[in-house]
Amino acid sequence: MAGIQKRLFAYFMARVQDDELTISHKRRLFKDISGTVLEIGPGAGPNLAYFPSDIRWIGVEPNPHMHPYLHQQAERLGFPVELRELDGKQLPAEDASVDHVVSTLVLCSVPNQASLLAEIVRVLKPGGRFVFFEHVAAPRGSGLRRYQGILNPAWKWFGDGCNLNRETWTVIEAAGFSEVQIEHFRMPEGPVAPHIAGFAIK
Ligand SMILES: C[S@@+](CC[C@H](N)C(=O)[O-])C[C@H]1O[C@@H](n2cnc3c(N)ncnc32)[C@H](O)[C@@H]1O
Repeated sequence: MAGIQKRLFAYFMARVQDDELTISHKRRLFKDISGTVLEIGPGAGPNLAYFPSDIRWIGVEPNPHMHPYLHQQAERLGFPVELRELDGKQLPAEDASVDHVVSTLVLCSVPNQASLLAEIVRVLKPGGRFVFFEHVAAPRGSGLRRYQGILNPAWKWFGDGCNLNRETWTVIEAAGFSEVQIEHFRMPEGPVAPHIAGFAIK
């Protein structure tokens, strides 16, 4: 069953188009991306279109059904990609070897956010940046937060492990970066809101 679920999720994600607000956030977030870039959970590759063509892009995508969509997108853009396997809980990169780590809509799904953040800090060079765009939990006590709690078990099943109600910003802030800049904002996406975007410097 998990295979069908992952296949359907990949099919769905490959058809999602960035809306205007997402496009403007991503353009701003990704404009200074350079050097060696490790993208965590690139899915069907919607972010490739925003990156400069002279970076070295490495992706870690555990859902194999995403790979054909990602390769199609890379071919369309003429963008060279290198997919690597997760090594248990470890990111497949040497200590202090990466200039930028990118994550969009991924921290909602990973089994352990704190251990992934520790891995991100490990692989970044000193001064390297973690750049993120994520949906997060609504404010505690709000009607939307209660709704997210009720919906979460079903959402997690259909969304391949996606959680609606994670306070992801607290984990980023506690991860040991020297500087963290986070913008909180609301996009009109029902229970998949609000969002955070920003960067953290090692
Ligand atoms: C909602 S999709 C987002 C895909 C893409 N980043 C985007 O913005 O469209 C979440 C992605 O995270 C991946 N993922 C889940 N757990 C992961 C992990 N531990 N490490 C890396 N990627 C993971 C999933 O396979 C999936 O492709």
